[in-house]
Amino acid sequence: MTYSSRLEGFYNLTAGQRIEWLAQVFSLEPSEVDALLSGGLTIEQADRLVENVSGLYTLPFSVAANFTINDRDYLIPMVTEEPSIVAGSSHAAKIVRASGGFHASAEDPILVGQIQVMFEGVESPYEDSPRLVETIETLRSSHAKIIAARAELLEQANNVHPNLVKRGGGARDISVREFFHTRIGPMLVVYLAFDTRDAMGANLVNTACEAIAPRTAELTGGRVNVRILTNLSDRRLARAACRVTADALGGAEVARLIVEAQVLAEVDRYRAATHNKGILNGIDAVAVATGNDFRALEAGAHAYAARDGGYRPLTNWELASNGDLIGSIELPLAVGIVGGLTRIHQVAQIALRILDVQSGQELAAVMAAVGLAQNLAALRALATEGIQKGHMSLHARRLERASTG
Ligand code: MEV
Repeated sequence: MTYSSRLEGFYNLTAGQRIEWLAQVFSLEPSEVDALLSGGLTIEQADRLVENVSGLYTLPFSVAANFTINDRDYLIPMVTEEPSIVAGSSHAAKIVRASGGFHASAEDPILVGQIQVMFEGVESPYEDSPRLVETIETLRSSHAKIIAARAELLEQANNVHPNLVKRGGGARDISVREFFHTRIGPMLVVYLAFDTRDAMGANLVNTACEAIAPRTAELTGGRVNVRILTNLSDRRLARAACRVTADALGGAEVARLIVEAQVLAEVDRYRAATHNKGILNGIDAVAVATGNDFRALEAGAHAYAARDGGYRPLTNWELASNGDLIGSIELPLAVGIVGGLTRIHQVAQIALRILDVQSGQELAAVMAAVGLAQNLAALRALATEGIQKGHMSLHARRLERASTG
């Protein structure tokens, strides 16, 4: 489907007119239009989804405009209650669009699961203890046995997901880490790397970890405890970059002040937390719209921001020698376009139709670009009029309008 994401005047339409426009462009059925009006989830579906359901809770569904990513236009569905997010990312995307748009990519959809192996009766020895050698040997030989059984364990993991294997996914790798000194004794962790294709993959990986756990215990002579995915999906990174002229931003001074704000986030974790929160404002909004697990994304993003022991901004902004502003982002984005909530939530399905992405990887790349746009919008506002003028006054106005009808 080809369309321009430059939605001239979209902002001035009524919500009803915007829905009509979407219905026309994306050939929505009357039942889908109803879903956009009512929220997309029936009480019966909700009741099957989680426990103790006692009602439904709806949030605004919006579309951000102007995104060009890898030379293709995208309309970005967003679910958020916070004003300025949709307007901010649309505005930043318009600025970036004028200089060629975003370039974005995502790694293979590898999700990693962990299996914790404990060794009964083996203590974490002190450095000079005679038992140190014994402990090291127990863990090292268990490690070696797991690696030697790599093919068998991968096959066992794949046997529980034959359909995924047919679609080109499945278990890819096994690795092991040893933790000699913990406060409860030594432990081994087995990592199962799994290609989840177009699914986020939490359930796939958890099932696979549980499937290979008994054999892991047998091979090591240990006892298996925790078997679950890690949300630090650092083998599933998404990246985006853009370059904008200082003029498009409002002048060389604005570009310089944006870099100053960036450097503050690099040196001060108090600022880095807020800087990254702004990035996730955009990413989470797309995650919720498309039925993805935003808590998993938050956990992954913050753990990645802290990967070197400090806590760092997920984006980078710097000036090129000609004064252009160059931005980039890198973070784990474990997202999918099949399974989970996307199976039943009608608005999430519409969101995916609007995005028109062909894979979970493409969705991750788009979301990285949205995060970068959101960050640019926030830093530009901070470097110019301040966040309160645009952001909070809009917030107050909207809340007042909502409460007075
Ligand atoms: C508000 O939700 C997000 C911002 O605080 C992000 C930032 O300061 O970079 C505006």
